[in-house]
Amino acid sequence: MGYDLIIKGGTLVTASDTFVSDIAVEGGKIAAVGAVKANDAKSVDARGCIVVPGGIDVHTHFDMPFGGTTTADDFKTGSTGAVFGGTTSIIDFAIQKKGETLTKALDGWHEKAEGKCAVDYSFHMIVTDLPENQVKEMDKLVDEGISSFKLFMAYPGIFMLDDATIFRALLRTKENGGMICMHAENGGVIDVLVQKALAEGKIEPKYHALTRPMSAEAEATRRAIALAEMAEVPIYIVHLSAASAMEEVRKARERGLSVYAETCPQYLYLSYDDYERPGFEGAKYVMSPPLRPKGNEERLWKGLAQNALQVVSTDHCSFCMKPKDKKPGKELGLDNFSKIPNGAPGVETRMLLLWDAVQKGRLSPNRFVDITSTTPAKLFGLYPRKGHLSPGADADIVLINPKKKHTISAQTHHTNVDYNPYEGKTVEGSIRDVFVRGVHMVTAEKLLGKTNHGQFLRRMPRT
Ligand code: URP
Ligand code: ZN
Ligand code: ZN
Repeated sequence: MGYDLIIKGGTLVTASDTFVSDIAVEGGKIAAVGAVKANDAKSVDARGCIVVPGGIDVHTHFDMPFGGTTTADDFKTGSTGAVFGGTTSIIDFAIQKKGETLTKALDGWHEKAEGKCAVDYSFHMIVTDLPENQVKEMDKLVDEGISSFKLFMAYPGIFMLDDATIFRALLRTKENGGMICMHAENGGVIDVLVQKALAEGKIEPKYHALTRPMSAEAEATRRAIALAEMAEVPIYIVHLSAASAMEEVRKARERGLSVYAETCPQYLYLSYDDYERPGFEGAKYVMSPPLRPKGNEERLWKGLAQNALQVVSTDHCSFCMKPKDKKPGKELGLDNFSKIPNGAPGVETRMLLLWDAVQKGRLSPNRFVDITSTTPAKLFGLYPRKGHLSPGADADIVLINPKKKHTISAQTHHTNVDYNPYEGKTVEGSIRDVFVRGVHMVTAEKLLGKTNHGQFLRRMPRT
């Protein structure tokens, strides 16, 4: 057989199985899994390595105008971080400006990404404006392979939609097979709390968290689920942070509803205490929803293991602490926490942090694959092309060296942001090799592939 590449003797881990095997690759696809005879194909020795399907991060914000500036990472730098971190596909968020058609907004995001992405990519569409006579435009996007939409229950005046508009969009996904991804925080309540805090002279970064209580997230999650139940469609809750919100998801799932939720590494590894760091350092952690008090993360870890949460994405939304490349950063909020651009980086560290959780016994290796790759692929119309190590799938393959430690640092990361929220943390396991559609993109922390290798992924609707 004329294979292009054979990955020999690794321990393959899928969402359901673990076994020692070779993988043969031909034409960018997995051609065989099993004992493969060496021929003149390039051979990579994977003995001693864990071999997993490439990570799929379904929540990134590259080149996004937000909070009076634009994210520090564009598609080139963000996707370079992704591939070094073992993520081979991303789904980014395109934004509809008010008054703009969804198609026009999508064209704009294609322009930002095309020829600039190292990994395969797709978009969700953030809908900010959906008059009744434009609801059917959602169908056009689904036909174009954009089969998911993000709606906001927070950020009044910017992104927030009312319940009627949310309900209209949910109803339409019954017809077109799309999925609504919900930012579930009660934006009205938060706005009142923010204005009150500012009027009392409370301006430091920690007030970002103190004005976004967990009950504002739990209430919106409950309401989002109720709206989806009334529309009789599935719903996906993004960046879930509060355990009380997770309990709403769990209860709905126990009632048989198709409710799904992702959390992010920051909610598993960091906490409210990070806002109490000296000076303005807490701004590094200003994101929405905010980090929660210690103890909350233990409940999320349990929920992940028990499938109350189904996915870990990153919500990679990077802003520097100081202006860089002519873009303002977090310093915009030095005198007013509500002006700190919301978001933090994470696309490069998700796989490392979660594999560390496997090493520490918090997750099984199979669960790691499920939450970082297989379930994201299934929920967002990429399976079985992505998310699995089986013949016919894209050869998106990651080799993890479980014996090599890695210390996370802004000095060595590849994204364009001047800090790392996990600075100095040493994890057990490092990303040794990364293949995207059979192309050897990374080995031993060196980039081999091109940063424009990524292709647009046209995703399937729900069936
Ligand atoms: O703080 C965050 N999460 N920034 C990105 C925008 C969003 O809501 O996902
Ligand atoms: Zn959000
Ligand atoms: Zn986000």
